[in-house]
Amino acid sequence: MTLVSTQAFDAALVEEIARDEQAKALSFFGEACGLSAALLPILHRLQDTFGYVDDQSWPIIARVLNISQAEVRGTTSFYHDYRHAPAGRHVLKLCRAEACQSMGVEALVDHLRHHHRLTSADGGLTVENVYCLGNCALSPAALFDDRLVGRLDKARLDALVAEAAR
Ligand code: FES
Repeated sequence: MTLVSTQAFDAALVEEIARDEQAKALSFFGEACGLSAALLPILHRLQDTFGYVDDQSWPIIARVLNISQAEVRGTTSFYHDYRHAPAGRHVLKLCRAEACQSMGVEALVDHLRHHHRLTSADGGLTVENVYCLGNCALSPAALFDDRLVGRLDKARLDALVAEAAR
């Protein structure tokens, strides 16, 4: 299943989303909370809509929320889950936290690099790091689109790469 949006950047849609989330934040929290309360919901919706948060969105969001572009940029880069470039058709999130480290995730990363010659974003498959998927008992763990994968090994990894290539 392909989960990543491939919709092209659209400035008018970014503004529409920003204004919509701004209105929701105001009606929910009231004026006292400040307009920046809408910033994270806006970034989430942009990533859902476009598959990433385009840098061209920053001035639009800043204008709508009456905050600085630096604040938008800082928030976008602080949270690792926001992408800054379009993702592939599929996303493989590999857990690199302690339990998965101790169960050999680094060997799987090397396998992706050397056997499949995959880097972080490669055509149909984007590979991202995450730090604990809550599946430590079945480490090494990964998330392939919306599917949690446990006890990942080279054979399972090969199958996921092949599935992404179809
Ligand atoms: S450390 Fe990898 S799932 Fe928790």
